[in-house]
Amino acid sequence: MVRIAVLVSGRGSNLQAIINSIENKKINAVIAVVISDVQNALALEIAKEQGIKTLFVDSSKFKTRKDFDQNIIEIIKREQATLICLAGFMRVLSETFVKQFKNRIMNIHPSLLPSFPGLKAQNKALDAGVKFSGCTVHFLDEGIDTGPIICQAVVPVLDDDTVENLSKRILKEEHHIYPLAIQAFIEQRLVCIGRKVFWKNEKNT
Ligand code: GAR
Repeated sequence: MVRIAVLVSGRGSNLQAIINSIENKKINAVIAVVISDVQNALALEIAKEQGIKTLFVDSSKFKTRKDFDQNIIEIIKREQATLICLAGFMRVLSETFVKQFKNRIMNIHPSLLPSFPGLKAQNKALDAGVKFSGCTVHFLDEGIDTGPIICQAVVPVLDDDTVENLSKRILKEEHHIYPLAIQAFIEQRLVCIGRKVFWKNEKNT
């Protein structure tokens, strides 16, 4: 059984979607550990309620970003997790971390990347006046919200949209596509060639 490490910083709705998909057998995996860089993250409570192992890693206890990342690398290795899912994890991971788990770190972001990476993606979409936005699941590289795109969902931007309304509609799609991407990874259906990810069909052909 594939073991997943989920990295979080906040509310945990994507974590909840992953947990639900595991319960509904739409994801064939176990969550080995949920790691947070924020002590009172709601996501930690969600995990604890489900009896999932949680760890808070306090970045202020480490001299450098690399030391912090090394600590997380060690936890992931100790927990024998082979897939790392960033679910609202709001820190940039170092090159060392990314290289260690090449094409095994997934991230979800609330925009159609490469548009609007970073914070407040939904505000940026509204400010830019785009007619469509959405969300993206991608393998993480060394950049901020960059790396080979696994899948995306498109959400129309309405004339009278607020950040709250748009975010809510995008989030619904996040909860749909993240589990799909995770299960495709588990079934070894994702083939990454350069910057492109190809989906093999269910029979692995
Ligand atoms: C989600 O919208 C996710 O796409 C975003 O943070 C939110 C976390 O919500 N991630 C990023 O912006 C990454 N750059 P959640 O804690 O309820 O899953």
